[in-house]
Amino acid sequence: MAKKARFQAIKGTRDLLPPETELWNRVEQTAREVFATFGFGEIRPPIFESTELFARSIGTETDVVSKEMYSFPLRPDEGETTGVEPSTAALAREIFDVPAAESTSRAESKDPLAKATFEAKSRSELVSLRPEATASVCRAYIENGMHALPQPVKLYYTGPMFRRERPQKGRYRQFYQIGAEVLETLQPGQGGAKDSSKDAATDAEVIEMVMGFFARLELQSVQLEINSIGCRECRPKYVEVLRAELLKVKDKLGPDSQRRIEANPLRVLDSKLETEQEIIAKLPRISDHLCADCAKQYQEVKRQLGLRGVAYKENWRLVRGLDYYMRTTFEITAQGLGSQNAVCGGGRYDGLVELLGGLPTKGIGFAIGEDRLILSLLEAGKGDVAKGRDVYIAWMGEKALSTAIQAARKLRDAGFRVELPPAEQKFSKALGQADRLGSRYALILGEDEVASGQWTLKTLANGTQEKFSEAALVEFVKAQKS
Ligand code: HAM
Repeated sequence: MAKKARFQAIKGTRDLLPPETELWNRVEQTAREVFATFGFGEIRPPIFESTELFARSIGTETDVVSKEMYSFPLRPDEGETTGVEPSTAALAREIFDVPAAESTSRAESKDPLAKATFEAKSRSELVSLRPEATASVCRAYIENGMHALPQPVKLYYTGPMFRRERPQKGRYRQFYQIGAEVLETLQPGQGGAKDSSKDAATDAEVIEMVMGFFARLELQSVQLEINSIGCRECRPKYVEVLRAELLKVKDKLGPDSQRRIEANPLRVLDSKLETEQEIIAKLPRISDHLCADCAKQYQEVKRQLGLRGVAYKENWRLVRGLDYYMRTTFEITAQGLGSQNAVCGGGRYDGLVELLGGLPTKGIGFAIGEDRLILSLLEAGKGDVAKGRDVYIAWMGEKALSTAIQAARKLRDAGFRVELPPAEQKFSKALGQADRLGSRYALILGEDEVASGQWTLKTLANGTQEKFSEAALVEFVKAQKS
């Protein structure tokens, strides 16, 4: 006989199960409530988008785009009719200019026409599971003409994201984010110095909102770190200074950092490698190289956070791993998460909408790692959720069944969690089952109770029993719950 298949969730993915899913729902509900008080509305973008959208927004040199996306051709069967090689690897090689190990496809064809056709098709037809949602929100903002709405437009989202990372505690290949974005298309004449102080207030309010959300959940040991990574004017100059310094100490750096000197020297500052820490501590700091506008804006962000009573720590090494950021960046850590302790990351991304083909638009936002948020709450004992049932109905005899069905309906209509066993059980067995399900009460309905209209309610924690009429019983359970 053929061996039975045993299916398992794919590495880096997992099932979220009750009762923990109640906590997930509570967290998401709290986010909805808090974000609504700041004027945010929900957006639900698709789970997959054009690969090029992410490549352009996040940057082809980033880990997320170069290594971690799940990409596939939108129409794999196209190859049969057009002769275009449909393999994802070949498509990715074309898009990201990754040299092929061997020439296997039409993509590498010397025929210029075939190659051009291939490129055009692959670019428009390679899609990726979203590794984050900021790019999608900006795409949706442009596509739905949201620049015409009253500005700024405030949107939030919740849902799964996908990155092919090495799984470990707090790091998954399918993980969940709760994020928010504020987008504002520039009006004619906008964008001067006065604006940067307005931007700083927006940055601070967005941070105040996420910190308020964490406080509402009683998340423990929350630490906010902030930085400014400058703008298109000052950052390239700083990057050159940094690169020059890094080249001087190249031999002392590990292979990853050595590689980054050319491609993305800012990411060297992110290094956690023990042997590099002393060297990095002596590198030039961006705060000493910000242009006047960026410096002023950063000062103002700090003042605005102060006005809101939001405590922060400055971290000049906080550069973030996505290319679209400018000026304000921030990260929030929380208790009990080990090495993956960033529970939220965000920052300003003026210009991203324009880069994607829209009008000049400012942006600021963040995304919370919901898996990590839940882990931290559970670890701190703040993850209590209602478990089990309010009432288990222990009924016996055909006559009691119709009364039991009625009682279940009344109690459920009043919002209680009720278990009505589908088959008659001996009372001892019913009480045992009620206990195993974590029920608060057992409602005992036998022939006597049905005949007298006086129902017996047993409190399982202490074994006490009381008799109630139907109406009095619902009132009693209600009063106990509130
Ligand atoms: P990010 O820093 O890449 O930023 O991700 C935000 C948060 O998502 C992280 O701080 C972490 O809590 C969580 N996260 C990331 N990768 C994983 C993973 N593999 N497993 C579990 N959790 C993970 C962004 O995604 C930006 N889009 C945030 C943003 C919005 N910036 C502006 N607007």
